[in-house]
Amino acid sequence: MADEWSSSVDLCVELSHRGSLGRDVERAIRQAICDGRLVVNARLPSTRALAHDLGVARGTIAGAYAQLAAEGYITLRPGAVSEVIWVPPAAETPAAAEPGRAARWDLRPGSPDSSSFPRQAWVRTTRSVFQRLPPDAFGYGSSQGTIELRRALTSYLGRARGVLASPEGLMICSGFTQALRLICEVLRLSGARAVAMEDPCAPRYRELVASSGLRIAGVPCDGEGVQVAALKSLDVQAVIVTPAHQYPLGVTLSPARRNALTEWARQRDALIIEDDYDGEFRFDRRPVGSLQQMAADRVLYVGTASKTLAPALRLGWIALPAAIRPLAVGIREWLDRGNAALEQLVLADFINSGALDRHVRRMRVEYRGRRDYLARVLARDVPQAAVTGIAAGMHALVTLPGETQARAVLAAARRRGLLLHTIEEYWHEPDPAHPHAIVVGYGRPPANAFRSCISELAAVIAEACG
Ligand SMILES: Cc1ncc(COP(=O)(O)O)c(C=O)c1O
Repeated sequence: MADEWSSSVDLCVELSHRGSLGRDVERAIRQAICDGRLVVNARLPSTRALAHDLGVARGTIAGAYAQLAAEGYITLRPGAVSEVIWVPPAAETPAAAEPGRAARWDLRPGSPDSSSFPRQAWVRTTRSVFQRLPPDAFGYGSSQGTIELRRALTSYLGRARGVLASPEGLMICSGFTQALRLICEVLRLSGARAVAMEDPCAPRYRELVASSGLRIAGVPCDGEGVQVAALKSLDVQAVIVTPAHQYPLGVTLSPARRNALTEWARQRDALIIEDDYDGEFRFDRRPVGSLQQMAADRVLYVGTASKTLAPALRLGWIALPAAIRPLAVGIREWLDRGNAALEQLVLADFINSGALDRHVRRMRVEYRGRRDYLARVLARDVPQAAVTGIAAGMHALVTLPGETQARAVLAAARRRGLLLHTIEEYWHEPDPAHPHAIVVGYGRPPANAFRSCISELAAVIAEACG
């Protein structure tokens, strides 16, 4: 007993002595986390030690920890020390929680569940790779990326995403963001002046393209994806598309449009930039392979590890048409001489051992379960809200009856500390005819907080639409 106490940690819990003791402990710890006094990874005392320190029953502390775990603030595993997992959100939030009020729930799109990163498998792979590395692996390598990763990806992408590539035709980059910057440079140096982008699309990439000096033309999307007929009337030399899962509408480019799009590129001598950001997470049984396989000489296929593994890896890949490869490789040589090689070697081994497939298959089941739960709860509790775009990925579009309700949802979300994105900023231009919707990223919350997060979302919508 003495050992357990002395090996535990101190925690300053200031009780208000109002309401039940369990609630009081819970509130004090939650407040400390929200204020930043208890930071992420901070260890909490064992329930026994804290109960002893506060002079209360152990069950009271266990109940408080269980509630905080259900809300996503701390971990709770039998026999293990509880730790803080809540990270106060960074400032990238258009619909932020009320000033001065910490966000408790985060349903912004764009991130997978970081708490599900396959840490053990990654550590095992890292150890095994480092034990085998020859000394020259620590020297300068190819600016196109390590041959090991390019070989592993050639095989993986051909099998899992239907990409037609060779190790020589692949370039490793630090995610879609860097790929797009590099591609804009390639386009400009090849004489391009204007690029078409889907409308709606991620505002971040619109700004990136604009900052590279290229003019942007918006192409509307409908239930079949990007409208190729509208593209034909534009004076552009390339188009950026998300064919497997339009971002953010969530629709899939129809077979007829896939044909029309590649035909357009051939006729106009134009390029297609295919952003395959979450193609692995398809939930129905009809796989949607890459567009690139239909026109490997016209399509720059870009994939990323940001959704399948973690954004923190900053690893992505481009399948380059042969004609533009020398220019792209040349730019890369002067830009940064390529990505960090050691992480690439770990990822190569991770793919070759089947660990990536196992992780993707596990997460597909997890995200499908979340998607089903989200759709079920919203259909039951707020039938006024229509959930669409959910055949793949980790975000859903939730369309609200009108502008008044959309504004009220944002206000209610702010009050309750729920971080949400509306679709408004994704359109190229505001238009009263646009549907009013929120883009719900259901991949981001840790599994133990997911249900509470969705209850909060349903409560926010119900309050706004009620
Ligand atoms: C539309 C879209 N494409 C690609 C990405 C991945 O970007 P990166 O690979 O730079 O992390 C994201 C991330 O949120 C995205 O929203």
